[in-house]
Amino acid sequence: MGFSIDSLKKVAEGKTKVIYENPSDPKSVYMVFKDDITAGDGAKHDVIKGKAVTDWKTNKDIFEFLNRCGVRTHYIDSPEQRVSLVKKLDFKINLEVVTRRVAAGSILKWSNVKEGTWFDPLITQFHYKDDPLHDPMLDDDYVDYIIKAKEGGHIYQEMRDINAEVFVFLEKAFSQFGIQLVDMKLVYGLIENKVTLIDEISGGSFRLWPYRTENPNLNQENVLSELNPDARLDKDTYRKGESLDKVQSKFEEIAKITDSFKDISV
Ligand SMILES: Nc1ncnc2c1ncn2[C@@H]1O[C@H](COP(=O)(O)OP(=O)(O)OP(=O)(O)O)[C@@H](O)[C@H]1O
Ligand SMILES: [Mg+2]
Repeated sequence: MGFSIDSLKKVAEGKTKVIYENPSDPKSVYMVFKDDITAGDGAKHDVIKGKAVTDWKTNKDIFEFLNRCGVRTHYIDSPEQRVSLVKKLDFKINLEVVTRRVAAGSILKWSNVKEGTWFDPLITQFHYKDDPLHDPMLDDDYVDYIIKAKEGGHIYQEMRDINAEVFVFLEKAFSQFGIQLVDMKLVYGLIENKVTLIDEISGGSFRLWPYRTENPNLNQENVLSELNPDARLDKDTYRKGESLDKVQSKFEEIAKITDSFKDISV
């Protein structure tokens, strides 16, 4: 890049990333990953040396794969370790869009659905991003209403469609490495008036459960017997209080897998 990132003007800082202005292009920004890790909407917080580089690499591999798949994303390039160049957001849609294939995590608390229940078609849920409110789930009609009121009704359906499309791309990709994408949460914004996938995709964005056998039978109502949540690769290791070394080694496993996404033909 020919300059130090710290010399740039900071535009925003969140829990896991810092955004800097790009002096040579007002339409893009630098997104710099931090070693910080949080859970419980910021209630639990640690710093893991090396996590920023690992998440940066996973994010790079996944966004480059999705761009190749033709998904509209903000991602442009990863000019150096920890640094991504992305298209600058015009309007942030303050929702987390969650897509689920297998029942795990918070959905288990909302009814008597059993862990491992297979969802086909996929289930997509919208959460309002607000840490003090713990990202409450919103009613579909209400999401439609608030988006319509602000930006026009097409956005809601587009986010649904893109989320499901991305889910299937990533589910197929991870399946080639014997891993089931259980669920995933993504964030969108408007860039040049188009709904665009933004933010990061890394170990905290999804649940990944390895297959128990090479050819699991996933064609049944509940697939818990076919998958191994004890060997999970995702941020649940951190939520469950495993050592920070273990958490980092799981994130490194993810980065090792996504490194091979470049070899997947789309
Ligand atoms: N393409 C983009 N252009 C400008 N800002 C962006 C872009 N993508 C992500 N951001 C912003 O980067 C900021 C820092 O991200 P970070 O994930 O660290 O925040 P956070 O504290 O986790 O909050 P959030 O819950 O919004 O992710 C966020 O405000 C996010 O909206
Ligand atoms: Mg974030």
